Amino acid sequence: MSLNLFILCTLVSLASATVRLQELYAWNVLDWDYPDQYSRQQAIQSGALIPENALPVGIERWRNKLFVSVPRWKAGIPATLNYISLDAAYEPSPKLTPYPSWAGNELGNCDSGLNTVYRIKADKCDRLWVLDVGTYGYDNVTNVCPYTLNVYDLNTDQRIRKYVFRPEDIVSTTFIANIALDEGPTCEDTFAYFPDELGYGLISYSWKQNKSWRFSHSYFFPDPLVGDFNIAGLNFQWGAEGIFGISASSIGPDGFRTLYFSPLSSHTEFAVSTRILRDESKVSGSYRDFKVVGVRGQDSHTTSKVVDESGVQLFNLIDQNAIGCWNTELPLKPQNVAIADKDDVGLVFPSDVKIDDQRRVWVMSDRMPVFLEAELDYSDINFRIFTAPLDMLLQGTVCQPSPAQKYKSAKVLQSPGLSAYYEPVKNLQPQPVPFMYNAPAPMLSQGNPSFNMQIVPNFVPKVTSYINFPKQPTVQFNTRQPNKWWRKNYDVYENA
Ligand SMILES: *[C@@H]1O[C@H](CO)[C@@H](O)[C@H](O)[C@H]1NC(C)=O
Ligand SMILES: *[C@@H]1O[C@H](CO)[C@@H](O)[C@H](O)[C@H]1NC(C)=O
Repeated sequence: MSLNLFILCTLVSLASATVRLQELYAWNVLDWDYPDQYSRQQAIQSGALIPENALPVGIERWRNKLFVSVPRWKAGIPATLNYISLDAAYEPSPKLTPYPSWAGNELGNCDSGLNTVYRIKADKCDRLWVLDVGTYGYDNVTNVCPYTLNVYDLNTDQRIRKYVFRPEDIVSTTFIANIALDEGPTCEDTFAYFPDELGYGLISYSWKQNKSWRFSHSYFFPDPLVGDFNIAGLNFQWGAEGIFGISASSIGPDGFRTLYFSPLSSHTEFAVSTRILRDESKVSGSYRDFKVVGVRGQDSHTTSKVVDESGVQLFNLIDQNAIGCWNTELPLKPQNVAIADKDDVGLVFPSDVKIDDQRRVWVMSDRMPVFLEAELDYSDINFRIFTAPLDMLLQGTVCQPSPAQKYKSAKVLQSPGLSAYYEPVKNLQPQPVPFMYNAPAPMLSQGNPSFNMQIVPNFVPKVTSYINFPKQPTVQFNTRQPNKWWRKNYDVYENA
């Protein structure tokens, strides 16, 4: 079979397969966008920039900005909070721009700098919520500054709130790498929640009261039986890792959300109403208000989750190089958990998953265990950012929301008190799907070499094991296609 014919057959078979997450950006090594080559060279010489020490961890999309956090685990990280401009000329490996500025990322400046940021969250009031954990280093951690919540106005890029956690919020082992928001009907009525992974606590912060308090519960502890991890061919134990992935549901009939959470070393999902978390007086005497939701299944360690307005939860499955889903209206058990996408190369350690205002899913993968426990190969792609419309990811899975769920979430979004803060209902419609098959036919006959290189490797059917997730026959191929199509469709989608 000639190469062209082979590619044609490949395309035909791909066309009927499910398209899942699309790779938008990929890097062998990160780099920063210095004002000029000279200042970059100076940064390298002074040790301010050591690209090989940078590992991206968190992402968040707000309008034309895609935020990327890079913890200062090693030396040479010029900025911990950064963004990529989505409307700049497309580059497959864009350089990072510090946010809000270079100065606003100064290490050791506890007044106006940021030291280490993990996951970040934008809200409906155009604010970006950023917890600076104040640390420098990984094995040998220095606490440079106290835990400080920073909130930025995304329209002006000004910091509009700085709140230092109370000493009572923190214990000697505290490690907080995540955040969830609980947005009420007004911008004032916003709470943020922070899971203390190694101190086994959950901290509530009220924007209105500018105050925080800390919950303790045995459900924040790890399950000692599942502390063994096998990822990227490495075996290691993260047996002490407690509450980590957290996300608030849409507002329920009683006016409160449900905060879902799971310890990292655990396969169990728990929940608590935000009615409890919002009330400082509930810090004690609320043991029974925390609920066991169910068990996801074997090999379902997770660090990042998000629940969309229709009630579908997405979460990373770090053991399986996959993104999982669960429709929260169904009982949580392995049969009701599906894999929305899986890729044993591209999704090794999916470190963050987000859904933006337009129901588009964003995923970062970063091979974190290799970075921490071994060494990354910088001749290979190590970091990737994927995106896909949520409805497309859920297609054909047990997680698809029912028409009633879609209707209900549309009504929530439409209700008068909320309408100022939520995206209009049109965004609940499935977004135009960016298919690679729009590629003009001449590309084939011209035998464009880059085209061949991109398509053929992706053709390899996925080796998927569904032992733990019996009901998910849908992901057979992963038809990722780096990027050229995406710009066009992104523009169409933005203007829709
Ligand atoms: C650990 O940190 C301390 C203080 O910053 C420093 O003096 C020491 O050299 C560091 N050790 C290692 C192994 O990095
Ligand atoms: C919020 O609390 C912090 C204390 O961490 C204080 O410095 C700041 O001025 C307060 N902000 C407002 C708006 O009250």
